[in-house]
Amino acid sequence: MEFRNLGEGFGLEARGIDLAQPIPEEAFRTLWNAFFAAQVLVIRGQKLSATQFLSFARRFGRPEPHVIDQFHHPEHADILILSNRKKDGKPIGLADAGTYFHTDYSYLDVPARCTTLYSVEVPKQGGDTLFANQYAAYDDLPAGFKAELAGLVALHHYGNRDDQDKTSRTVASVLNETQEGKMGWVKHRVARKHPITGRTALYAVSGSSFGIEGMAEDEARALLDELKEHATQEKYRLRLKYGVGDVVIWDNASLLHSATLVDPEDPRTLWRITIKEERGAPS
Ligand SMILES: [Fe+2]
Repeated sequence: MEFRNLGEGFGLEARGIDLAQPIPEEAFRTLWNAFFAAQVLVIRGQKLSATQFLSFARRFGRPEPHVIDQFHHPEHADILILSNRKKDGKPIGLADAGTYFHTDYSYLDVPARCTTLYSVEVPKQGGDTLFANQYAAYDDLPAGFKAELAGLVALHHYGNRDDQDKTSRTVASVLNETQEGKMGWVKHRVARKHPITGRTALYAVSGSSFGIEGMAEDEARALLDELKEHATQEKYRLRLKYGVGDVVIWDNASLLHSATLVDPEDPRTLWRITIKEERGAPS
């Protein structure tokens, strides 16, 4: 196994791994440690069945199917199909998912530890994923600001704080009534201790955060917007381009990420598995 840096500061590409084969325990420990240090890990050019992809994902924790259940993979509900392709006029997957900075499952009480994508079909143009390093964004805040954030608890709900127009391509994927009924308000610290590394990161300051406990709505909104602006600056970002067969896994507790829009006529398909944190992790 060999590693190569993807960007300055974070992101790693691992070579010499075939994910179609089981990874021996010791090699997996190396991969696990490298992943949590690098926050984004890419393994290029894999050829995987749905079952093989799921076996890899399960090494990182417990997957949980997405609330959008109409696009679950027919063999494994833990896999969500992301695609702009249509069959007989009907979409085969979720298109335009997460095209704004957010953290996966931050609208759930037990959020996502990591998300993994397997790239099945790559568009001619675009389709990159942007990541923003929330450890670095937190570390760079002045000490006085960090002290202000200590103990602040954000109120989260499914959705994109900056776009709630259901006809927009940058709204959070629209839920049906049953799915919406499953969503409630949850709380997570604004400056949150990473459950595995113990480092503090800004958490989901863009996306599902709509308010702050005990703070007036406009004041909370202004603070979250200020943090979002800071945390998504170019200097904290990494842009990932996909080739067919690429597998990426990212650390949701220390990153924000955003998909980029693709021409609806330019086919793109990915499989996605989301792995949960363990209940009782600090939030
Ligand atoms: Fe996402």
